[in-house]
Order: sequence, then C-alpha cells, then structure tokens
Amino acid sequence: MLKIPKHLAIIMDGNGRWAQEKGLPRIAGHYEGTKRAEEIVYACQDLGIKFLTLYTFSTENWKRPAEEVKALFELFENYLGKKITELKERNIKLRFIGRKDRIPKTTLKIMEEAEEQTKDCSSFTVILAVDYGGRDEIIRAVNKILSSGIKSVTEEEFSKFLDLAGIPDPDLLIRTAGEERISNFLLWHIAYTEFYFSPVYWPDFTKEELLKALEDFSYRKRKFGAVL
Ligand code: IPE
Ligand code: IPE
Ligand code: MG
Repeated sequence: MLKIPKHLAIIMDGNGRWAQEKGLPRIAGHYEGTKRAEEIVYACQDLGIKFLTLYTFSTENWKRPAEEVKALFELFENYLGKKITELKERNIKLRFIGRKDRIPKTTLKIMEEAEEQTKDCSSFTVILAVDYGGRDEIIRAVNKILSSGIKSVTEEEFSKFLDLAGIPDPDLLIRTAGEERISNFLLWHIAYTEFYFSPVYWPDFTKEELLKALEDFSYRKRKFGAVL
C-alpha cells in the first residue's frame, strides 16, 4: 500500500541542464519546469497530500546572471497571475515563505493577491519558497525573538517564529536532477525528514516519477530515534 506523506517538499532542480542538453536557452527549461510544477501540484492534491513545499528561488539564486533572474521572476509572475482563479476553484491554498524585501514589487503584488484570494481554501496547501534560505529563515526568527525581548525559548516556541509556523515538518523531501545536497532548503524542518534523490531533470519529473518516490517512501521505517 502506498504511504502518503502529509507534507512533501521538493527541490525542483535541473531545468537549466534539461534545456541545455536540447540546445535551448536555460529559460526554456524553467518554462517547461513550471508546467511540471502544475502537474505535480494537482497530482499531490489527488493523492491526498496535505502540504506541498516547492523550492522556487533560493537566497543564493541571486548570484545567477541578471537576465536569468529577471526572466525567472517574469515567468513566475505571469504564470501565477493566470492560475489564481483555477487554484481557488480547486480549493487550494497558496502560501509563500522566504524574504520579502528583495522580490520585484510587481511579483510581490501577485503573490499577495494569490495568498489573499486562496486564504479560505482548505483541501490542500501549496507553499512556494521564493527568495528562501533555511539559514535566513532561522536568522529572521532569531531577530524577531530578540526584538520582542524574549530571553529564552524552547524548540516549540522557536518554531512559532519561523516562516513555516503551524505546518508539520516534511515527511519526505525529493530532489531531482541527481544532486544529493540540501542547498539551504528547510534546514530547521528536515531534522527527521526522509530523502529521495531522483536522477530525472525537473521538466521530466512527471506523476509517474512522483509515484516512484512515494513507493520508495512507503518502505521506509521511520524511527525518530526510538527502537522499533
Ligand atoms: C532549478 O533548475 C530551478 C531554479 C533553481 C530556479 P536549475 O536552473 O538549477 O537547473 P540546473 O541545475 O542549472 O540544471
Ligand atoms: C536549489 O537549486 C534551488 C532551487 C531549486 C530553487 P540550485 O540549482 O540553485 O542549487 P545548487 O546551486 O546546485 O546547490
Ligand atoms: Mg540547479
């Protein structure tokens, strides 16, 4: 029987290589990757996953050529703008995690609109990590605590200051495109997450590939430090 994670996190990697191997510009890979993200969102909802967190743009991705960064935000903004109604109709709630002070204003506006329009949706939550870094999330939490005057916190209290407050830790994290690293994703939250690395580039990561990952996850014995 397929075990369904409550919270799935994905590092969508390999758009650039997918395009380059086809002789296409890198942005063509990002465009195709966006279509795959949509397919995976709906597949996750159909499978009964409750939370899906997608790594969309990292705090380190600003190091990329300015034209790629610009094209990425334009693509994201256009796509998101077109999808808000559909997401709402499907009862999907959208949330964003990450810094808000460096994202282009027009993009931020669409993000806020998407969050507002879908705030009462309840079947499934999609969390997009945009200008997100795990260390940055922790440091912002620490600074919020310091400025509130709190002197000491428990793990539980600390987690309330994080971007993902109120959302259970990911049960499974998938990274595509053969890299086996975290690249500053969800550092606090993955303490006991299961990892699955797929060799497939993100634009080729179809529902069938997702099912392979879930099948693999179904055989894992999660112990959380205890003896089973
Ligand atoms: C992931 O694909 C998308 C983002 C990081 C925005 P990449 O663009 O990292 O693709 P590769 O790793 O260069 O192939
Ligand atoms: C991680 O992928 C970030 C996203 C998928 C958004 P990168 O392609 O930026 O990571 P590195 O540079 O290979 O570690
Ligand atoms: Mg990459």
